[in-house]
Amino acid sequence: MNGDHGERVRVESEGDIVAVRRAVRDAAKDLGFGTTDVTRIVTAASELTRNITLYAGSGEVRWREIDSRGTRGIEVVFEDQGPGIPDVELALEEGYTTSGGLGLGLPGAKRLMDEMEIETECGKGTRVTVRKWLRQPRPSGQR
Ligand SMILES: Nc1ncnc2c1ncn2[C@@H]1O[C@H](COP(=O)(O)OP(=O)(O)OP(=O)(O)O)[C@@H](O)[C@H]1O
Ligand SMILES: [Mg+2]
Repeated sequence: MNGDHGERVRVESEGDIVAVRRAVRDAAKDLGFGTTDVTRIVTAASELTRNITLYAGSGEVRWREIDSRGTRGIEVVFEDQGPGIPDVELALEEGYTTSGGLGLGLPGAKRLMDEMEIETECGKGTRVTVRKWLRQPRPSGQR
C-alpha cells in the first residue's frame, strides 16, 4: 500500500461512508484483489461503517496490508466509542436488529470476508476487525 489514499478515515456522519468506500476500494485494488473481491470488501466496509454512524455516532476506519507466510491480504478495523454490543453471538444472527433494520450487516460482512473478530465492551465501544486474503493467481484469468 503506497499511502496515497491515506490509511484511515474518521467517521463522523453518514456522508463519511462514501469516503470509506472509495478509500477501501482503492486500497483493495492496489493490493491486487479482483473485481469480485473488491466488491465484497467494499460492501462489508460499507455495512460496518454504517453501524458506526448508526449505533455509536462516530468512530474510525483504518486498514493495512497484511502478510502471513507469503500470503498477502487486507485488514480493515472499524472502531467506535459507542454503547457496545451486549450479546455478540445474538448480534451475528441474521435478522437480529435493535434499530428496525434487516439485521444483515454483521452476518453479511462476516460472510463476505475471510475473517471477522468483534471486540466490544458495554459503555466503552466496539472494534470489528475483518480480513481478506489474496488468492494465488490462477493461470486462466480471475474470478
Ligand atoms: N458498532 C456497533 N455498536 C453498537 N451496536 C452495534 C454495532 N454494530 C452492530 N450493533 C448491534 O448489532 C445489531 C446487528 O447489526 P447488523 O448490522 O447485523 O444489523 P442492523 O444494523 O440492525 O441492520 P442492517 O441489516 O441494516 O445492517 C444492531 O442492530 C445493533 O444492535
Ligand atoms: Mg447494520
